Amino acid sequence: MRHIMVLNAKGGCGKSTIATNIASYFANEGATVALADYDPQRSALDWLDRRPADRPEIAGVQAYDDGLRRAPRNADILVIDAPARTHSSELTGLVKHAETIVVPVLPSTIDMQATTTFLKELQGLPRVENKEAKIGAIANRVRDNTLIFDDLDEYLTRARVPYIAALREAQNYVRAYTRGLGIFELPEYLAWPDWEEWEPLTAWLRSVRSQP
Ligand SMILES: Nc1ncnc2c1ncn2[C@@H]1O[C@H](COP(=O)(O)OP(=O)(O)OP(=O)(O)O)[C@@H](O)[C@H]1O
Ligand SMILES: [Mg+2]
Repeated sequence: MRHIMVLNAKGGCGKSTIATNIASYFANEGATVALADYDPQRSALDWLDRRPADRPEIAGVQAYDDGLRRAPRNADILVIDAPARTHSSELTGLVKHAETIVVPVLPSTIDMQATTTFLKELQGLPRVENKEAKIGAIANRVRDNTLIFDDLDEYLTRARVPYIAALREAQNYVRAYTRGLGIFELPEYLAWPDWEEWEPLTAWLRSVRSQP
């Protein structure tokens, strides 16, 4: 089973949004997918509760209660939604199983500042130093032609982690979440710009570059 974790100590950067979309992407590709929620806010599990029965099934794992013990053994991919405000002392335990760590970052000075500290902590973990887990950063909720996006773009280009994709701010994410869907399950005429932006992310997730 492959573990893909969406993680950033900074709250509200889009972890649950990106985790649910990664899960629905792989489910639609025909993989057996489980989605584990470490956050007692249950955003990922709430999304699963909303998911229509006629869509490819995704199993939920209540990880905030009992970790990954109950994750279905037959899953090809386990997507893990991490909680906000992950303390440095908890990081080692949290990433214990992750092979791929996706770090969303918002175009905001506060978020970039917080992410700098967080990435340093993450890169100092033995699992990451030994390349047992690969990190990829994602700009999220970006608006083109804004100075702060230029700053984030430059920040992520210089960061010592691969900069995988930039996702725009779009109501499609809000709409899809409300219906228990991913953006790949919205109509093409609405969601094609988002599908294009996800291409580098899904290509990276499928490639060996994102795996130990
Ligand atoms: N690309 C996007 N476009 C528009 N809205 C977005 C996008 N990404 C996330 N959001 C919205 O931003 C808010 C925060 O996103 P989300 O809950 O996924 O973040 P989070 O990192 O999981 O938060 P928390 O730290 O509380 O767990 C939500 O209202 C979500 O709908
Ligand atoms: Mg969340």
